[in-house]
Amino acid sequence: MGMLEGKVAIITGAARGTGEVTAREFVAEGAEVLVTDVLDDLGEAVAAGLGDAAVYRHLDVREPADWSAAVAACNAAFGPVDVLVNNAAILDVGPIATMDFDTLTRIVMVNQVGAYLGIQAVIPDMRNRGGSIINVASVDANEGSNGVAAYTSSKWGMKGLTKAAAVELGMYGIRVNTLCPGVGSIEMSAPFHAEAIERLSKRTERLPDRPIKPFNRSGEMLDAARAIVWLASDDAGFVSGTDLSVDGGFTAGKIEPGAPFS
Ligand SMILES: NC(=O)c1ccc[n+]([C@@H]2O[C@H](COP(=O)([O-])OP(=O)(O)OC[C@H]3O[C@@H](n4cnc5c(N)ncnc54)[C@H](O)[C@@H]3O)[C@@H](O)[C@H]2O)c1
Repeated sequence: MGMLEGKVAIITGAARGTGEVTAREFVAEGAEVLVTDVLDDLGEAVAAGLGDAAVYRHLDVREPADWSAAVAACNAAFGPVDVLVNNAAILDVGPIATMDFDTLTRIVMVNQVGAYLGIQAVIPDMRNRGGSIINVASVDANEGSNGVAAYTSSKWGMKGLTKAAAVELGMYGIRVNTLCPGVGSIEMSAPFHAEAIERLSKRTERLPDRPIKPFNRSGEMLDAARAIVWLASDDAGFVSGTDLSVDGGFTAGKIEPGAPFS
């Protein structure tokens, strides 16, 4: 029997990347999934590839009306929502000093407000039956780094949302957790990589030669998807309000050169 047998889930941003991998793992574990995104052709194809256990629905997470329609579509196709994965997000890079207002608000609206609206939308289904909500954040919700202040703020905001929602909704048996993956799709991180590669190509000073990843590997989207499966499952039935890092220890600390075991 699969870990998610009999569960009904909505996954946002599931047309590609981590959301797509998560949708595949959910179906493999016995769940029925409403695959949602704004990339309709890709999303339709993902759902079609998963057979009867998946249906695609357009859902712009910034739009309350889209959320109501998606929850209704989920009820019509599979029944009430047991699991919500707030995975949709956008990344844009730029210094705080010159970040334009439209980019800033778009990032916060998709990444943070979108998750808030999602929680609002599934409360009626989950209030009497319990449920699990997983907010997909990032390593950028564990620390700060240059060039991604808007994205980082939105992801830290998600962690705060998780804590407040876990407290407020616990009385209904609704669990809310944050997942902080170390990696995701190339499509999302491409703009950041392009800028970083450009900058590094101009640097003359020596780059650090110590390993900064304790596992010495970056991880895969499947690592995040499997952790999302676990948080959605009854095995995590007493886990709520937590931040789960899936980054191979990347944000746990630093390797101190010269110290034992460095
Ligand atoms: N890519 C990375 O390096 C990385 C690292 C850590 C965490 N993450 C997080 O993992 C999650 C998945 O990202 P990914 O790496 O798979 O990137 P991705 O860009 O492949 O996936 C994000 C999805 O969200 C969708 N989306 C964008 N705006 C939307 C909107 N308004 N409404 C609904 N859907 C929208 C996109 O169309 C896309 O399919 C995100 O929360 C991201 O922040 C990514």
